[in-house]
Order: sequence, then C-alpha cells, then structure tokens
Amino acid sequence: MDVIELGDPTDAQIRQWHAVLTAVHAADPAGEPAPEPEHTTARLLGAEQGSRQRLWTAVRDGETVAVAALRLPGEPGAARPGEIDIQVRPGHRRAGVGRALLTVAAAALRADGRASVIAQVLAGTPAVPFLEAHGFACVLVLQGLVLDLDALPAGRVGALVAAGPPGYELIRWRGVVPDEHAADLARAKEAMADLAEYEGAPWDAGRVREMGELVAKRGDALYTVAAVRDGVIAGFTEVVTSADQPGRAAQYDTAVVPEHRGRRLGIWVKAAMLEWLAAERPEVREIETDNAGDNVHMLAVNTELGFRRQRESREYQALAADLP
Ligand SMILES: CC(C)(COP(=O)(O)OP(=O)(O)OC[C@H]1O[C@@H](n2cnc3c(N)ncnc32)[C@H](O)[C@@H]1OP(=O)(O)O)[C@@H](O)C(=O)NCCC(=O)NCCS
Repeated sequence: MDVIELGDPTDAQIRQWHAVLTAVHAADPAGEPAPEPEHTTARLLGAEQGSRQRLWTAVRDGETVAVAALRLPGEPGAARPGEIDIQVRPGHRRAGVGRALLTVAAAALRADGRASVIAQVLAGTPAVPFLEAHGFACVLVLQGLVLDLDALPAGRVGALVAAGPPGYELIRWRGVVPDEHAADLARAKEAMADLAEYEGAPWDAGRVREMGELVAKRGDALYTVAAVRDGVIAGFTEVVTSADQPGRAAQYDTAVVPEHRGRRLGIWVKAAMLEWLAAERPEVREIETDNAGDNVHMLAVNTELGFRRQRESREYQALAADLP
C-alpha cells in the first residue's frame, strides 16, 4: 500500500476521493444525505477560512482505498488543535490502513508545531475504538437533532412569534451582516464563546463579515434573524441553505447575550426564522443542528420547537505526543 500526499488534487484524484466517501456513507448512512461531488471538490480545492489543509490517499493495487484530511487552523504553531478526518473503504478495514494514515498526519501535525488534534465522529461506529486505540479521549458529546417542518402543528410557529417579549423587535438580513450590526453581532457571538472551546480567535466585526462572505463564496445562503433592544442585538439565530441539499438547511449559531437571557428570546428568534424560511425557501423541509449534550437550555428550546434527536456525534482529542 502507498500513502500519497495530494498537493494540488487532479480531477481524477477528486473523483477517487469522492468514491471513498460514497462507499463509506453507503455502509453507514446514519441518517445523513449522501455526499455530493461538488461538495467534495470544493472542500479539496479550498481550505476553510483562516486555515490550511493537507490531504493524503492510501492506494492499494491502483485502487484508492482510504483518504485522510488534516485541517490546520491559523498559523503554524498556533495553540489551536489540528482536525483530522480519515475514511477507509469498508472492504479494507482492520488492515492497518487507518493507522498508516494517522501516522503520516501525526508527523505533519508535529511539523506544524501543534500540540493536539481533534476528530468528530459518530457514536457507535468503528471510529470510536479506532481513536481510543490511538491515544484519543472523548472531550465533547453532541446531540444531532433534526426538525421536520412538515410535522410542525399548524399555528405553532406563528403563536411563538406573536409571543415575543415586550421591548424587543425582530430584524433580519440575508448574507453578510449589514455594517451597522457587525460589531454588535460579534459581541453576541462572543456570548457563545464558553461553548465553542476550540474556536480560538475572538469574534470581531471583520470575522463576522468574513464568515458571511465565505458562505456566499461556497454558493450557500446565510439567513440571520436578530432580536434588538434600543438598537442593539440581544440575541440572534443563523440558518444556512445550500444548493446541494435544497431540502435540508443547517442551523448555524444561536446565542442570547447574557443580560438578555431568560426572556424566551432564543425560541423567539428561532420561530421567526422558521416563518421567514417558510415564505422565502419553501423547498426547505428539514433543519439540522448539533447541541452540546450539556447545553440544557438550547436543547430545551429545540425540543419545544419540535427538533427530534437523530444521532450522537462525539469530539475526540489527542496530544500530538501520544499519536503513533
Ligand atoms: C475508523 C476507521 C478510519 C478505521 O480504519 P481501519 O483502517 O479499519 O483501522 P486500522 O486497521 O488501522 O485499525 C487500527 C486499530 O484500531 C482499532 N480498531 C479499528 N477499527 C476497530 C473496530 N471496528 N473495532 C475495534 N477496534 C478497532 C484496533 O485496535 C485496530 O488494531 P487491530 O486491527 O490490530 O486490532 C474506519 O473504520 C472508517 O473509515 N470508519 C468510517 C469513517 C470514520 O468514522 N472515520 C473516523 C474519522 S477520524
């Protein structure tokens, strides 16, 4: 078996990479839509905002049997962990392929001056014993939730929107945050910082704008609804729709600034978002979200809205020094 690093992936290499993802998904769909070729291409050709990535494939007898991607957020030597994702074709497992890819990725991680690495995996899959056998420990449990919009009782959303707390008004925008709200939105995003342990860089107006530009560059649409008091954002929610999966939108951030908590602003902005999407994007039939298992308030809001538990994902972390 050869492990090959892809500097600038060719069309054929992207197709082979996608074939591995498709085979892995087919063996364990876990309620997730099948991977889309455009998505794979976009991911392989461009790293996410503010990060670099390294890519490897494992090839046996001319066939790509596994792939690995290491995301390196920030500059070399940054305090933030790298992020590893390894996928092995079902017919080639338990033969040391995953371990071989992890070994090359670990060398790259150390060469980049990182102290640790994280991986997001589904509970109950072989990834759990694989990671635990290689020095990783579970640091976060996330409940995957899905809201089936067709199952929402008629009138529920309208009633929640009508029950907004006095003194607040709703505003909304599509795409990049308008200038007058950028600093405010950043402050509200900082309210989530206690949950986003690995986000690292603090939110400021520039980073909030960049995030909106990145979503647009991918061809996706970002919708934001905010609750405002005296012109200042007290809470907000974001949903992203994608042309790849028109029927399923993704919940992004929701946060309420600490001094405005306890007034049902979270459920209010989320209900207003559902009303807006129903009018603007009627093709959206489902919304998916992840909640930290210990974030009881957000879980309560989502359960009241009708989100149902779909799958559990887990975040694992290992020290670079403990990797093979
Ligand atoms: C997780 C995954 C990458 C492992 O790949 P793999 O090539 O089968 O792993 P290896 O053969 O290198 O396994 C190395 C060791 O990990 C452990 N391990 C791996 N799979 C295991 C399983 N299903 N049950 C128990 N232990 C397992 C064992 O200790 C194994 O050593 P052994 O075979 O000598 O007992 C593969 O199952 C996969 O692609 N899963 C789906 C995608 C995924 O969840 N990726 C994880 C993201 S990091």
